[in-house]
Amino acid sequence: MRDEIKEVLISEEEIQQKVRELGGVLTKEYEGRFPLVVGVLKGALPFMADLTKRIDTHIELDFMDVSSYGAGTVTSGEVKIVKDLNTSVEGRDVLIVEDIIDSGLTLSYLVKLFHYRKAKSVKIVTLLDKPDGRKVDLVPDLAGFTVPDAFVVGYGLDFAERYRNLPYIGVLKPEIYGT
Ligand code: XMP
Ligand code: MG
Repeated sequence: MRDEIKEVLISEEEIQQKVRELGGVLTKEYEGRFPLVVGVLKGALPFMADLTKRIDTHIELDFMDVSSYGAGTVTSGEVKIVKDLNTSVEGRDVLIVEDIIDSGLTLSYLVKLFHYRKAKSVKIVTLLDKPDGRKVDLVPDLAGFTVPDAFVVGYGLDFAERYRNLPYIGVLKPEIYGT
């Protein structure tokens, strides 16, 4: 698997250092507020697992699965709820945890949905931000790293469901996604 990676963009150590930093910021932000932390499946899973361990105050966890992507690398612009929350967001401070913001379509849909469902506040923390890919105006409240407009994999991010289990963020060799 690792010989299919052309380049490591963000190392495991850099990710873990950033996750500690973000956890510290979120601890201060949400101290005493018992936020609902919503992980967006499946990509946010590793980030969600590591980040929540660095938030040193009470939180509740939940997950949503929405999809705007098929098996390939091009967005369809369509957002579909595959799995909804188990918890009501009404009156809650909601923190959405995402792996990457590209077009911004997925997140702008979720933010609107949670406001419609009467959340008290909705904030976004994303590990990666790809601002060059934006199709809607959306700025995350917290972002770990800005990445160039290339398809990246690892630490939750997949190509055709593979590579999510890499501990770092990398770029695939062109012959892999070309086939
Ligand atoms: P949007 O475009 O709605 O996309 O902001 C968010 C979702 O798109 C996926 N995505 C990627 N997945 N490498 C991936 O493996 C990428 O470079 C990439 N860019 C976007 C991702 O699932 C994210 O949740
Ligand atoms: Mg995703």
